[in-house]
Amino acid sequence: MDTITDPSIEMQQLAKKIQQCCSCELSSTRTHIVVGTGIIPSTLMFIGEAPGKNEDQQGIPFVGRAGKIFDQLLNSIQLHRNNVYITNILKCRPPKNRNPTIHEITRCSTWIDQQLKIIQPQVIAPMGSFATHYCCSKFNITFTTIGSMHGIPMKITHRKFTGTLYPLYHPAATIYNNQLKHTLFDDFKKLNKILSTIL
Ligand code: URA
Repeated sequence: MDTITDPSIEMQQLAKKIQQCCSCELSSTRTHIVVGTGIIPSTLMFIGEAPGKNEDQQGIPFVGRAGKIFDQLLNSIQLHRNNVYITNILKCRPPKNRNPTIHEITRCSTWIDQQLKIIQPQVIAPMGSFATHYCCSKFNITFTTIGSMHGIPMKITHRKFTGTLYPLYHPAATIYNNQLKHTLFDDFKKLNKILSTIL
């Protein structure tokens, strides 16, 4: 007989394992592991790139400058961190916020795969090239550029995920680029429409 497990408890158990991860060299420079935050399960799952300095200090995703923009984006469509799930491809901060390496992504991906199973989202919104590239390779879609893929919903039928993949620019990319910020806010409006068709 199958045992029915509460997804929040499953996530707590997974978080304990993630907290002990030493499978790449980032474990030696991190202050905190950033597992993720939000409601479990969740219709909508955001995936960022990796913790930055503030996230590493606090153990919470998107609490720095990019996080402020992210909160504004959520609020612009009447959402809040408590209504969605937010995590990153990498759970530990790369030193000096350098790009994640393929080795680190490969090692860390075991965690996001397990999070995905627990969260059971209907919409996955990867933010930025690294997260979008990761999702595309996971679901057998060709990644081109974030500039050509953002704001375009894609129906995915894959053994690991059935639902909509909706790539977005990374909020950090919009800090010094107002045009991109407008685009990102517009893409959030479209996201709201997508959500209204499934809720
Ligand atoms: N950038 C990310 O991709 N994730 C965070 O948690 C913070 C900044």
